[in-house]
Amino acid sequence: MTPPLPKLSTAPTRHSSSCCSLSLPLLSLLNTLLPPPRLALSIGSGPGLLEALLLHHYPNRSNNFYGVEVSAPKPVNIFLPEQNTLTVTGTWAVIDNGLLRDAGGLLFVYPRQPSLVRAYLENWKGEVVVWIGPRADVEEFGPVFEEWGGGEKGQDMGMGLVDEGEGVWIYRRE
Ligand SMILES: C[S@@+](CC[C@H](N)C(=O)[O-])C[C@H]1O[C@@H](n2cnc3c(N)ncnc32)[C@H](O)[C@@H]1O
Repeated sequence: MTPPLPKLSTAPTRHSSSCCSLSLPLLSLLNTLLPPPRLALSIGSGPGLLEALLLHHYPNRSNNFYGVEVSAPKPVNIFLPEQNTLTVTGTWAVIDNGLLRDAGGLLFVYPRQPSLVRAYLENWKGEVVVWIGPRADVEEFGPVFEEWGGGEKGQDMGMGLVDEGEGVWIYRRE
């Protein structure tokens, strides 16, 4: 059975099942940035807590928002409804090209490998990428996202939405 979702407040709060701190304004920003009806994918959704909360607060997204995870004998996902999950066969793998082509927005929350982010972005023609991660990762991951965004630095929208040591960066392409 799916464990109950925590109740969020306007202040960023840490939860044991999520790498990033969570808040209601963060969900609201994500809902605005990843507009339905275009498909949005969260790559490396892990336990799926952030993603499940987004669907809980914005149920109109339920047909066009998916978390992508590596398949495992004991599924990594805990919180996302199964119909909103997609799996790949290994950490090197990128989701099916057709799904990626249909996606207008990609979300990366605490990605581990710049090479995986690059693999997703190198041929992707969507509109908006949201990256949530520790500020300490900017040097390593920033250039990969900037490459996709035409060299532009990501717009940092994290202030007050996530903890101080974290950022929410938005990259767009015309
Ligand atoms: C650091 S965790 C972040 C999990 C979650 N986003 C969070 O913030 O709590 C990175 C996740 O990426 C997943 N991952 C690794 N390679 C992947 C791939 N090729 N496609 C999708 N997910 C992948 C891992 O299994 C892991 O759950």
